[in-house]
Amino acid sequence: MKHTLFERYGMMFEEDCDVMDAALSELCKKAEVRVCEIGTYNGATARGMKKFLEDRGSTIRYWGVEPSLLLHDECPDPFPGAVMIRTKSEEGFYLVPGGLDLVFVDGNHSRNGVILDTFNFFSKVVRGGFMLYHDTNPKSQRTGYEYTGPEIPEFGICVNEALELIGFPWEPWFLFMEKYPLDHHQNGMRAYRNGKP
Ligand SMILES: C[S@@+](CC[C@H](N)C(=O)[O-])C[C@H]1O[C@@H](n2cnc3c(N)ncnc32)[C@H](O)[C@@H]1O
Repeated sequence: MKHTLFERYGMMFEEDCDVMDAALSELCKKAEVRVCEIGTYNGATARGMKKFLEDRGSTIRYWGVEPSLLLHDECPDPFPGAVMIRTKSEEGFYLVPGGLDLVFVDGNHSRNGVILDTFNFFSKVVRGGFMLYHDTNPKSQRTGYEYTGPEIPEFGICVNEALELIGFPWEPWFLFMEKYPLDHHQNGMRAYRNGKP
């Protein structure tokens, strides 16, 4: 199978897009959907979420958390009106308001990073809202290096391990959907939902 990075959602394969689509489809009945993305990179996913919602008659209110000031050209404001918090999520989480419908966790994928993002953001999500985690492909775990600590596996991609360690999802959260490419070692997406709406 050929894997394409879909422009509609940034650095994602079809499987990842399916999970994002499914979560946004649940939310697009709202007039305004409040989204926070941790790790925005070039803003492609932010623009993709905006387009998906607007194509269905909704609107997006968006907060992005992205520390790459030095890479600002690569990490621009995704669209006019997007609120950008230009710091690490573990330091800037308090600047993101509550009442969120969706948090997309795609910043620091290390064990420490994912644990902190989960603890710092889950309570900002409304009932029926979502936490989406990118890079959950089992084959990708403990690979790579997130530049935040010693070059050991715990500072690589550890999304699944982090969630397992802290026992997430906690009641009433549940696993809503998971997909990853079976014939590839990267990407993968999980969506957890904060109870039934
Ligand atoms: C995989 S990219 C994000 C891709 C983007 N979500 C998309 O779908 O197009 C990861 C981004 O997370 C950022 N990042 C790294 N550590 C972070 C942290 N502690 N808090 C927030 N963002 C972080 C990186 O600078 C990078 O831009």
